Amino acid sequence: MNDIEKLQIQWFPGHMTKAERMIEENLKIVDAVCEILDARIPYSSRNPDIARLAEGKPRIIILNRTDLADPAITAKWKNYFTSMGQTVLETDAKSGKGTKEFPAAVRRALKDKIAEYEAKGQGTRPLRVMVVGIPNVGKSTFINRIAGRKAAISGDKPGVTRGKQWINIDKGLDLLDTPGILWPKFESQEVGEVLALTNAISQNVLDKEALAANLMMRLCRLCPEKITERYKFTPDKEENGYELLESAAKKRGFLISKGEYDIERMANTLLTEYHAGKLGQISLETPPEE
Ligand code: G4P
Repeated sequence: MNDIEKLQIQWFPGHMTKAERMIEENLKIVDAVCEILDARIPYSSRNPDIARLAEGKPRIIILNRTDLADPAITAKWKNYFTSMGQTVLETDAKSGKGTKEFPAAVRRALKDKIAEYEAKGQGTRPLRVMVVGIPNVGKSTFINRIAGRKAAISGDKPGVTRGKQWINIDKGLDLLDTPGILWPKFESQEVGEVLALTNAISQNVLDKEALAANLMMRLCRLCPEKITERYKFTPDKEENGYELLESAAKKRGFLISKGEYDIERMANTLLTEYHAGKLGQISLETPPEE
């Protein structure tokens, strides 16, 4: 089988330091950290610095975009994070599925803290949760879903720098929104690629054809039957990503001139259809086996 196409990925480390500083400053005033991940790539959509920064704080993991991920694999990820002592919630923030359980999940994650507050006679003290996530993971959509109409934003709580967004979710639960954190460095080419494929990196800075060829190869390995179903050809394991795109372009009738097919159009079509979930629910990462 051919190698997957390599992509040239740029990243901008400047944002990270600022976001990291903000997180560090505000950690002192929150009870828990809620990390939003993309359920298709829970490993790569996780910022590795959060574990270090939030050490000792209870963490709630939101596996978002479950509508686009393979449910069986999402269940495995849920078990994986649960076995690490974290509270996990599966959501589709776009439709709202799963988001209503968020307050209960926070209370579950913070049951010891709640008992501690009650013992000190501070049972009415609101729980404060910081929400973090890499860009485009669905953080705003998620927050809007759980805040609903009750959203009350203010930046003037004690100990908080002005301009921070506190959002009241319900009685006794406040969220602190933070700017999306960009990856400090891609620890591997693989991480950079799956982030690009799931729109965490702006696709405008990437070679779309290379990206689509890369996606074709991954799909060919993970779920060739989904290519056959959608694009009406059986992927040849000897072909590279560009050749597979050409086969799809032929089936779609994307012809430029006699015998020449429009690979660029097919690349855009594949990326758009994949993002819209038209190929079905596909996870790009599975948790490590025990
Ligand atoms: P951010 O704050 O983390 O940067 O992300 P934001 O909420 O702006 O969401 C980024 C995109 O992801 C949005 O799409 C949003 O609708 C979509 N999204 C968020 N959660 C989910 C989910 O659970 N499932 C799916 N399928 N999509 C989700 P957009 O490109 O701005 O527009 P559109 O997709 O709504 O047309």
